[in-house]
Amino acid sequence: MVEFSLPANSNYKKEKGKHFKAPEGAKRVKKFHVYRWSPDDLGENGKPKNPRIDTYEVDLDSCGPMVLDAIIKIKDEVDSTLTFRRSCREGICGSCAMNIDGTNTLACTKGIDEVNGDIKIFPLPHMPVVKDLVPDLKHVYAQYESIQPWMQTQSAAPANQERLQSPEDREKLNGLYECILCFCCQTSCPSYWWNPDRYLGPAILLQAYRWIVDSRDQMTGERLDNLEDPFRLYRCHTIMNCAKTCPKGLNPAKAIANIKQLMVERRA
Ligand code: SF4
Ligand code: SF4
Ligand code: FES
Repeated sequence: MVEFSLPANSNYKKEKGKHFKAPEGAKRVKKFHVYRWSPDDLGENGKPKNPRIDTYEVDLDSCGPMVLDAIIKIKDEVDSTLTFRRSCREGICGSCAMNIDGTNTLACTKGIDEVNGDIKIFPLPHMPVVKDLVPDLKHVYAQYESIQPWMQTQSAAPANQERLQSPEDREKLNGLYECILCFCCQTSCPSYWWNPDRYLGPAILLQAYRWIVDSRDQMTGERLDNLEDPFRLYRCHTIMNCAKTCPKGLNPAKAIANIKQLMVERRA
């Protein structure tokens, strides 16, 4: 049986959380149970305390409709120490990815009314935590860099114009270019949980395919060579969690299957 270890700071059951009540007179109250951990929150032994779950009661009559609205309200009005990433608040920057109600998704596009009962919020799973809902993305960005995600050419650029692409070739980028690198898929993939150091994972492989299939890029062979490895590419076992969880409706598993197909074709 395959075994994998949980990242540090996964056990939140040892520490009692705080409870912040709704303001008096609030009529539509929703409870948010939020994962909290800070490296600066030290116990008596001088080491960081275990994580805990804090509960915030939010008055929905004075809150926007999205989960991100609720945690911004909590940070602004109740507990300024709550830490999370966010920027665009309309599903295009990917920074507010977190696990909400058991699913990796974007807090800014997840409606509060999509969840019955209390809402549980955790950081993206199986990543080291920097603080609260902020995962450490250093490793996954190093993996992204390893696939050289920019256009590479060998021929001279055409005089006085861009490198053109036919509508048919441009069409091949649909379903790929929309990826916002939120890593919801990456952190829902069991193969990535088991082999995060060696398997590139669905988000990075979808990005790799985006450059492989771009008709203007001239390093297709080198890009495939870079992926021809039992772990970097072939750890995908088509479990399909990635496609189920992608908040942009993309299908990384299909991109991975297309790369594998290209590997077969070039061997023939
Ligand atoms: S299809 Fe592949 S990449 Fe997607 S979740 Fe499954 S193993 Fe991971
Ligand atoms: S494929 Fe979807 S889930 Fe994965 S990083 Fe891109 S946008 Fe996020
Ligand atoms: S804040 Fe940009 S995707 Fe949610």
